Amino acid sequence: MRGFSPKTQGFVSPGTPVAVTMLLMPAKAEKAEKAKAPSDPVAASPAWPADSRINDRGHLEVGGCDLVELASEVGTPAYVYAEKDMRDRAREYLEAFQRHGGDTEVLFASKSFPCLASYRLFREEGLSVDVASGGELSMALEAGFDPSRIHMHGNNKSADEVRLALESGVGYIVCDSADELRLIDGLAERPQDVLIRVTPGIDPDTHQYISTGGSGSKFGFDLATGEAARALELLDGCANLNLVGLHAHIGSQLFDLDSYESAIAALGEFSREHSLQPEIVNVGGGLAIAYLDEQNPPSVDEYAALKCAAVRKAFGDAPRIAVEPGRSLVGSAGVTIYRVGTTKQAGDRRIVAVDGGMSDNLRPMLYDARYQAVLADRPDAGASEEVTVVGKHCESGDVLIEAAPLPEVAPGDLLVVAATGAYGHAMANNYNGVPRPPVVFCSGGEARVVVRRETWQDLSGRDA
Ligand code: LLP
Repeated sequence: MRGFSPKTQGFVSPGTPVAVTMLLMPAKAEKAEKAKAPSDPVAASPAWPADSRINDRGHLEVGGCDLVELASEVGTPAYVYAEKDMRDRAREYLEAFQRHGGDTEVLFASKSFPCLASYRLFREEGLSVDVASGGELSMALEAGFDPSRIHMHGNNKSADEVRLALESGVGYIVCDSADELRLIDGLAERPQDVLIRVTPGIDPDTHQYISTGGSGSKFGFDLATGEAARALELLDGCANLNLVGLHAHIGSQLFDLDSYESAIAALGEFSREHSLQPEIVNVGGGLAIAYLDEQNPPSVDEYAALKCAAVRKAFGDAPRIAVEPGRSLVGSAGVTIYRVGTTKQAGDRRIVAVDGGMSDNLRPMLYDARYQAVLADRPDAGASEEVTVVGKHCESGDVLIEAAPLPEVAPGDLLVVAATGAYGHAMANNYNGVPRPPVVFCSGGEARVVVRRETWQDLSGRDA
């Protein structure tokens, strides 16, 4: 059914559990504070967790845990997160969107880091959640998310996934195609609130694999071809679909805020052309993070100010603004510790091989993503050479860092790669029968393993 009727279901205002007055110092301010110690290159850089430093022993510490000690306890490779960074970032998001947008909803885009501990952490902080599959939905439910706070995405939801969403009572299903509208309408036994995902024809400046808003994208209803307008006609005949809003997500790792403004303006124009008055406008995620010392992404405050102003300009005061960050909630909070196995000279390259690689971080191979690293026991030692950090997989492209400036590296050294908190664990795989690393949360000097290391036995666990 078309139209933006008032929602009947009670909506718990996002963010209420968080006392804004008790807000800890936002991550960026804290980083600036830490930057006053010029001898600590880790504290001065936006690429390392805000809750990280070089400790009195000269070792890298994350969440108060010495990474040399931690590596001997949990082994390598391991994903290590500063829990405080994620909590601070969630609060920073809630506070900024409340300040700039009033009635707003901040969602954790869980594809960036799906595990029960991350879902629980962001639920505790008062965020809603974006899930993109039945698997992510079932994890969010298992972690205790109120179903009304769940937004269900996906460009090709299966009937089973739609059934799970309907039966569990998710707040919103974000619809992606005409076939899907028919599928959901056919399966729903009572009216379901839906948004339609609109492809606004905006190509932001990012890697083409993570750009989603241009005409021709596999995601959403294309504005340019009239698909979005046809979706509205189709919705008129869908008795069980209650259209309450519009959605657009144009891409990821975006430094340029202007593209958001153009995308939101296109949604506003579409709305006006079709006399829609959306109750909710979901403006996606996408804020970039610093992977390298010298990168300088916009702050959450700048991002919130721009998105909220753009929605007000495009729609007036009416709709609630939803936003779904992934990378910028978790990316800089996480690092990966590896153990160096071998080193060798190959042509003009000095090769340093670590005990992980493309199975725990696909991003360099998929997107030519660049990373930086230090040695855990001497992170501030000056660089004496540029090395190529490679993984242990049977692929020449299994290179984590092309040219890493490092002090002299030897077998047994611990190499720590910065900013691996988003889409590392999420996209990990078992290529070459390599077990996936554990996930460890560190806070106040305490470490807890929230996802255990896979074993060799796990690898054949599903085999007949
Ligand atoms: N909302 C939707 C509908 C999305 O598709 C995404 C990401 C997000 C929100 C969150 O975007 P973020 O704030 O994390 O940029 N594997 C790639 C990233 C793919 C992003 C997919 N969608 C990478 O490692 O860079």
